[in-house]
Amino acid sequence: MKILLVGACGRMGREVSALAPSRGHEVVCGVDLSPAQMPYPVYTSFGEIRENFDVIIDFSSAAGLPLVLGYAKEKRLPLLLAATGYGEEDRARIEAAAKTIPVFQTGNLSLGINLLQSLVRRAAAVLGEEFDIEIVERHHNQKKDAPSGTALMLAKSAEEGSGGKKKLVFGREGRLCPREQGEIGLHAVRGGNIVGEHEVMFAGEDEIVTLSHSARSRKVFAAGALKAASWLIAKPAGKYSMDDLLEELF
Ligand SMILES: NC(=O)c1ccc[n+]([C@@H]2O[C@H](COP(=O)([O-])OP(=O)(O)OC[C@H]3O[C@@H](n4cnc5c(N)ncnc54)[C@H](O)[C@@H]3O)[C@@H](O)[C@H]2O)c1
Repeated sequence: MKILLVGACGRMGREVSALAPSRGHEVVCGVDLSPAQMPYPVYTSFGEIRENFDVIIDFSSAAGLPLVLGYAKEKRLPLLLAATGYGEEDRARIEAAAKTIPVFQTGNLSLGINLLQSLVRRAAAVLGEEFDIEIVERHHNQKKDAPSGTALMLAKSAEEGSGGKKKLVFGREGRLCPREQGEIGLHAVRGGNIVGEHEVMFAGEDEIVTLSHSARSRKVFAAGALKAASWLIAKPAGKYSMDDLLEELF
């Protein structure tokens, strides 16, 4: 598989570049707003690209979405969106693009996190309203968005499991802010070079259930990206997620 890598010179771009050859894939060129020396050409805009490739993998940032979507649609190429921090407007753009090209989007490419999502859904269904749900995520000190895309995905899984919308509360502060029933608390911790840790706590009367996942290196996301991209290139236009991939593979 030949790849155009957007955000090629960032932490994840470098992981994908390092792993691709050992999985039989080739990054043929990259796009990055802050280009660096890589073993393939890196451009600062899509207009400069002359190479041919099978798929676009985007590990840049949510801000670059309109440009990468426009380019993928123009070239009619499958697109894996691995950046996080997309808003409502972005989601609508992604849905619209998926009418003409295959688009895979996920806030977390690790198999373990996707298993955690289904465990959270089940725990929320079984434990019910009597258990308070709080999510704590920890990441390195350079992470831009908070809470993490994964923490939001886990909150959504908990909502799905408990069968209704919950009030998401981002951090707690103040003298008079007791917890209300039906909330999901989300807490973001930032420091050092933590790759990514997520903990979902279900706290009931006299018992606590905690489900957690810890990513020990970024390689897990790079491997997931290559697997998802090679799966995506055989798909027709549409919007795909890790659920679709896992359903088909396992
Ligand atoms: N889906 C997943 O499993 C997963 C896993 C890890 C990281 N991420 C996400 O991937 C993204 C990148 O993470 P990172 O740790 O490599 O960040 P990073 O800051 O190290 O790298 C981002 C790179 O993208 C470039 N860039 C930023 N905006 C751009 C734009 N508009 N056009 C072109 N290049 C642009 C930057 O110059 C930088 O080199 C983040 O959104 C992060 O949350 C997702």
